[in-house]
Amino acid sequence: MKFDVISIFPDFFSSITGSGLLKRALAEGKVEIRIHDLRGFTDDRHRTVDDRPFGGGPGMVFKPEPIFRAVEAIRAAAGEDAFPVILLSPQGSLLTQRRVEELARQRQIILICGRYEGVDERVAEYLATDELSIGDYVLSGGELAAAVVMECVTRLVPGVLGNAESAEQDSFASRWANAEEPHGERGLLDCPHYTRPADFRGIKVPEVLLSGHHEAVHRWRRQRSLEKTLHRRPELIERFPLSRHDREWLEGIQRATGRAAPR
Ligand code: ADE
Repeated sequence: MKFDVISIFPDFFSSITGSGLLKRALAEGKVEIRIHDLRGFTDDRHRTVDDRPFGGGPGMVFKPEPIFRAVEAIRAAAGEDAFPVILLSPQGSLLTQRRVEELARQRQIILICGRYEGVDERVAEYLATDELSIGDYVLSGGELAAAVVMECVTRLVPGVLGNAESAEQDSFASRWANAEEPHGERGLLDCPHYTRPADFRGIKVPEVLLSGHHEAVHRWRRQRSLEKTLHRRPELIERFPLSRHDREWLEGIQRATGRAAPR
């Protein structure tokens, strides 16, 4: 997997490539990250990347030319142009685990870091293949969002995670999804996890987890997942293919709490 990132803050990325999962994946050659300084694709003495918006208003807007040139240079170096070009912006469609899984099947991805005042719309319309947002909040630039995309996608690149860290068990991923709809948006939140000590300052780990009774542990985890999802992300429960047992359990919660259980 190759990531080509276009940014006016190339130094930003040394922090994320210098530790943890990305550092390891880079060292093992599982991913490559190339950072392209947008100013390197300008053609004036001041290396201008932005200009005032037509029609007036506050803030500056990224000019189209340097971004087009940067993408064209990356495509020319790759010898092909069939890979995703993603503009990170708060106007993008929301990044989900399903989208991350799709991206992880690509060989190369270009990430364009916008800035919050804006990027000339011709970039979104004629250059980018996708416009992605990482959440309904505004960052001052797309750099953090690009880092999020690279981190999420890298975890799914084959061989990056060891068996013990299996991505299958993540919230939103396939563990609790059914066979027809194995990905993404139809997942549940992950259940709580505990490790030693079993009694920390008098706060005890749920007994069932110490019981060695695998079926009971499985049931407990499933119920905690359902409960957490119901309370924090009810819209995910609505989309989730619930089993008869799930439904009965959720109806029990409803009776106990007076909260509506999904149908
Ligand atoms: N740039 C600014 N805010 C953003 C967001 N929420 N997602 C992606 N890129 C952004």
